[in-house]
Amino acid sequence: MIKVNFRAEVNAVQAQRIVTEIKKDKMGGWLGLPRRYDVGELVRIKEAAKKINNESEYLVCIGIGGSYLGHRAIIEALRPKSETKIIYAGNSLSRRELEWALGKIGDHDFSINIISKSGETLEPAIAFEAFKKKLIEKYGPEEASDRIHATTDAKKGTLHDEAVQNGYSRFVVPDNIGGRYSVLTAVGLLPMAVAGVNIDKLLEGAAEAVESAVEPALNYAYMRYALDAKRYDTEMFASFEPSTVYFNEWLKQLFGESEGKNKRGILPDSVIYSTDLHSLGQYLQDGRRNLFETIIDFPTDDLNAKIVAAVRIAHTEGGIPVLNISVPSFDEKGFGELIYFFELACAVSAKLIGVNPFDQPGVEAYKLELRKLLG
Ligand code: PA5
Repeated sequence: MIKVNFRAEVNAVQAQRIVTEIKKDKMGGWLGLPRRYDVGELVRIKEAAKKINNESEYLVCIGIGGSYLGHRAIIEALRPKSETKIIYAGNSLSRRELEWALGKIGDHDFSINIISKSGETLEPAIAFEAFKKKLIEKYGPEEASDRIHATTDAKKGTLHDEAVQNGYSRFVVPDNIGGRYSVLTAVGLLPMAVAGVNIDKLLEGAAEAVESAVEPALNYAYMRYALDAKRYDTEMFASFEPSTVYFNEWLKQLFGESEGKNKRGILPDSVIYSTDLHSLGQYLQDGRRNLFETIIDFPTDDLNAKIVAAVRIAHTEGGIPVLNISVPSFDEKGFGELIYFFELACAVSAKLIGVNPFDQPGVEAYKLELRKLLG
């Protein structure tokens, strides 16, 4: 069970109203998902993963934002074993990155998982074209189609239409779940299953958290709200496990895109200790006092535990509010709980400052400018 070491003043009536609002929201489908996961979908995900493991040395996972960060976070953190290596593409427009990834595949057997809820996003679309071309050159159009797995909307979008037309295996991003809340759907589960993550255990952890994480998540959301009111406008997520760099990235996306609206929202940032004690550590100890620190505290050995304790004391004495979130285990179950805990806390936090946790109107601004430049 996730535990926190602080007690905020939770307005129980307001909190209950917010949770009910999220439950009823047309984008609140992730809230009950771990408890009523579609068993048929789970079986199909596992079968597709087995097929990919049998026939491919590489799976190219193409996607950006919520269609990318969640599964990468868990795969990188847990370093599971698998016959098939994962390569990520379509999360930038860098030609160098794309060529590097195409070169890495070389003559190896590979499959593609293209993940895009809208099916219209530019970065993955461009990478998909490049890898699809390679796939067709290597295997011919028929086998190429058999090696493409598309995770997208159930009914609409360019990717959906292409998948139907070419008979790609299809997985659905549910209508009522947005990108950054979708890691426990096929968006995250298929790549994770291919990479060797035990997705049953991950869902088990999340299902437990549906009840057990509510109290700590509300506590955390109200503590963030209180700190924001005291002008602590930056949150530093801190982990002492180097393999959780991408979990930090997922957190930054989750909170940044959910809260950063109407000139409101706490700026999320992250550090990995003890590495960053020798860089940003100086700023944390002695710099501007506008930030608070949220330690994600995984079970660890004695020495690392002493560093966690030392940092907590030093930063508290340096004037930084330090929140501690302790995770019961560094495995699928622990991460399942943690994902659910943060999703709930994030949605409640956004509601507390009066912004919609589930849209991202600001992301459209650069797309509009890019379209203009591209004519
Ligand atoms: O959280 C979100 O909704 C976004 O980060 C999206 O996931 C991201 O923009 C990618 O969108 P799509 O899956 O439609 O390609």
